[in-house]
Amino acid sequence: MTDGVQAVTLAIIKPDAFGSGKAGKVLAALEEAGFRVRGARVTTLTRAGAEAFYAVHSERPFFGALVDFMTSGPCMPLALEHERAVPYLREVIGATDPAEADAGTIRALYAESKERNAIHASDSDENARIELGHFFSGIDLIATGS
Ligand code: CMP
Repeated sequence: MTDGVQAVTLAIIKPDAFGSGKAGKVLAALEEAGFRVRGARVTTLTRAGAEAFYAVHSERPFFGALVDFMTSGPCMPLALEHERAVPYLREVIGATDPAEADAGTIRALYAESKERNAIHASDSDENARIELGHFFSGIDLIATGS
């Protein structure tokens, strides 16, 4: 049993980390950090799906390359539960650019570059709700209470 109110956020183990066999290590790091896995899938994003997921970045110069990368192979969306799910996951994964990520964070350990940076995490509670909806239905995320 847990005491505090639990929240759920979205992580995606991206095609670089998944394709190089690091999904298990990333998942272990997330569990060791205290997250509970409430949903997990393996999927390959379609172009339309990646464009919709990253629509907020559609005007950025890196958008096309980001969509190319995110559709380049399988990835692993995860619904992760923790009392401070959104901010805590962003702490645990580290800065977007692994060269700037704190030692011991997932990106410092497993990311190749700012573009191929191993893992995505939602940046607000509102975006977590929206982004979880890209991959999971509500019924997938019913807390077990364990
Ligand atoms: P992510 O957390 O998935 O959200 C948007 C992604 O765009 C980001 O991780 C990066 O991997 C990717 N990206 C690619 N180029 C850049 C860039 N120049 N600045 C910020 N993000 C970038």
